[in-house]
Parts: sequence; C-alpha cells; structure tokens
Amino acid sequence: MSINRPDGGLFPRPVNGDCAALLAEMASGCVDLFITSPPYFMGKSYDRSYRVEDFYKDVRSIAPDSSRIVRPGGNMAWQVGYHVTDSHLLPLDFAVHDVFRADESINLRNRIIWQFGHGTHAKRRFSGRHEMILWYGKGSDSYFDLDAVRVPQKYPGKKHYKGPRKGEYSGNPNGKNPSDVWDIPNVKAKHVEKTAHPCQFPIALAQRLVRALSPIGGLVFDPFNGSGTSGIAACLEGRQFLGADTSTEFCEIAVERYRQLQTETLPYRPIDRPILQPTGKEAVAKTPPHFAFREQD
Ligand SMILES: C[S@@+](CC[C@H](N)C(=O)[O-])C[C@H]1O[C@@H](n2cnc3c(N)ncnc32)[C@H](O)[C@@H]1O
Repeated sequence: MSINRPDGGLFPRPVNGDCAALLAEMASGCVDLFITSPPYFMGKSYDRSYRVEDFYKDVRSIAPDSSRIVRPGGNMAWQVGYHVTDSHLLPLDFAVHDVFRADESINLRNRIIWQFGHGTHAKRRFSGRHEMILWYGKGSDSYFDLDAVRVPQKYPGKKHYKGPRKGEYSGNPNGKNPSDVWDIPNVKAKHVEKTAHPCQFPIALAQRLVRALSPIGGLVFDPFNGSGTSGIAACLEGRQFLGADTSTEFCEIAVERYRQLQTETLPYRPIDRPILQPTGKEAVAKTPPHFAFREQD
C-alpha cells in the first residue's frame, strides 16, 4: 500500500464541529468532489431524533452551500439508505433529490444501487440489502474518468463473429463499465474495516467514487466525516481531503485510521477483491438433513 499525497503533507485532522458552520465559510467552487453519507435519523447515537422531517431539515439547510462549494465541472455524491418505521419506509434518496432537484446548477447523473449480502433480517417485509448513491454533476459536463474504474469483462475472450470487426475482441480490453449496481460488502461486525463508529461505509465504495469523480490532486470533502472513510479513500487515491464531524470521539477514530494509513497498518478490504462465493464444500454450506425437504419442494 502506498500513500500518495500529492503535496506530501500530513493528513489534516477532521474539523470537530457542525458542518453547516464550516460549509458557510468555504469558498465557492473550491471542492472537486463532495461525498457524504449523512445521519439517517434512525436511532443511532448521533441522531438527534427519529423524525424524517429532521433529515429533510438538515439537508435543506446545507444544500445551497453544498452545491456552491463544488467547482463547475465537479461532482457531488450522497450515499443514503432508508428511513424505516413499523408502518412505512422512505427511500432517503427521494428526500435528497426532493431538495436538490430545484438547484439548477447541478444535474443528477446516476442513481447508483449499492447492494450487499448482509444485514438485519426483516419479518414483515423483504430484508433490506441495498442502499443508494445519488451522483450530481455541477454544470452540464462534470468530471468522469470511466477508465479509472473499469472492472474485468465477464467474457474477456469474446470476439465479434461477423461484420467488419469479425475476429476482433468485442469488449474493451481494459475492462467494462461497472454499471450503476455496485456489489460491495457493507461494514458489519466482522468486516476488517469495522471501528467503534456505528455506521461506516466501506473504503472501496468511497474509493470508486473518488477515482471516477475527481482528478488526482483534487480536493475531496465530506461534511459528515464519521470514521474518516472518505478521507482514507482520498488519500489512497492521491487526492487532498477535508472532513468535519460534530463528534470528538469519531474525529479521534478518523485520526487513528489516518495514522494507521500512514504507518501502513490500516486494515482494509482491497477495492478489487472479488465477493466471496461459497464453494459448497464449507461445513456451513451443507444443508442439514432435517432441512432436506425444502430442496424437494
Ligand atoms: C452516517 S455517519 C457517516 C459515516 C462515514 N461515512 C463513515 O464511513 O464513517 C454520519 C456522521 O455525521 C456526524 N454528524 C451528525 N451531525 C453533524 C453535523 N451537523 N455536522 C457534522 N457532522 C455531523 C455524525 O457524528 C456521524 O459520524
């Protein structure tokens, strides 16, 4: 692992305070990529209520400064899940877009589905196994480096069998577009990246956004910094970074993770590691005999 800070400087401490105050002070157009996952108001230690109205209120209050600080041609990525109660469920990207669709300086470029294999088991609805990322570009042609995030072709040896390109490989030899459905393990208890923060997103998710949506050396900003995941992704990819969090405890977690990054001791799941597929030979993959009737259904 190499730390590729363009300016060779030390990683900045997150600003320990309210992001709204920081955003108000930041210069217009200074950020290449705004990337964040805000509180969902779902009962975490940092949520001040369980009311989705407070989610709307917070997003509305920082929306104008959030898009103002992104440079023309820069990008903004909001990673959100659902606000869930017994009786109903609200996709929080609906709420985010409700706020940002009125902003004519930005355009929604993708609604990415982030899917993962683990989570709580629902009894009264299908278990939730995805969240969303809304990617907005500032202006009509924002930065996008597809080549930086290509993934292996399913059939790399496939060739055209007729027509003028007969015999040539049909797919891009550098890999294919990763699509708008991303399969990246979420950070649950046994994930190598898990810290005491209750709601981290994985480094690989932030890393793909950083690679595709910001230039090397550009400034990445996360107003809800949490355990510092966006900053780690930015650092790994040679971008500069600024983050904020109201919690002193979470800022300390982020600082410790940056320190581990610099000493090459940070545990993390590499962005190109394939999703583990059971071979069927593991003891836990075998169907116990008293479950056998299910296979005959
Ligand atoms: C969903 S978590 C972000 C987690 C982060 N993406 C990570 O991977 O660790 C939201 C964070 O926002 C912080 N927060 C809540 N209100 C804030 C505010 N007004 N300003 C800055 N941070 C805030 C919380 O302390 C929490 O760490």
